[in-house]
Amino acid sequence: MHSDLLEHARALLAGEQDPIANAANVAALIYNTLPDVNWAGFYFLKGGELVLGPFQGKPACVRIAVGKGVCGTAVAQRKTQLVPDVHAFPGHIACDSASESEVVVPLFRGADIIGVLDLDSPRLNRFTEADARAMEEIAKIYVEASGIEG
Ligand code: SME
Repeated sequence: MHSDLLEHARALLAGEQDPIANAANVAALIYNTLPDVNWAGFYFLKGGELVLGPFQGKPACVRIAVGKGVCGTAVAQRKTQLVPDVHAFPGHIACDSASESEVVVPLFRGADIIGVLDLDSPRLNRFTEADARAMEEIAKIYVEASGIEG
């Protein structure tokens, strides 16, 4: 499942460098491939805060401060957040009330973080360590393909 998804992501982004187009296609690929995902998309760091990028799912909060919510925590801690129950995560920001679990992966450009890739599920405990590793790999594929590597 994951190797197919990674393969598909590489093929989808091959030969295209536009960061918005690539983010849009990655969000659509994940959303339409992984079961039980109600939101998949990107936030990009702009002027010191996370700003909503291309996504699939319900409309979401546009700006998230670094250190706030699951997304802002991923940036502040510089590491993937695997959240089995969002209601147990202090400061979780509820965009879609259906969301029960979440995984957020930082997008690294060299040592810098340029944003995050965020997935929500309406099912508790939906995401595994293997899902988190696969999303980290997709984040890498995205940054490299989009010509934004430091
Ligand atoms: N739940 C996230 C906010 C973004 S939405 O899930 C799309 C958070 O706590 O950062």
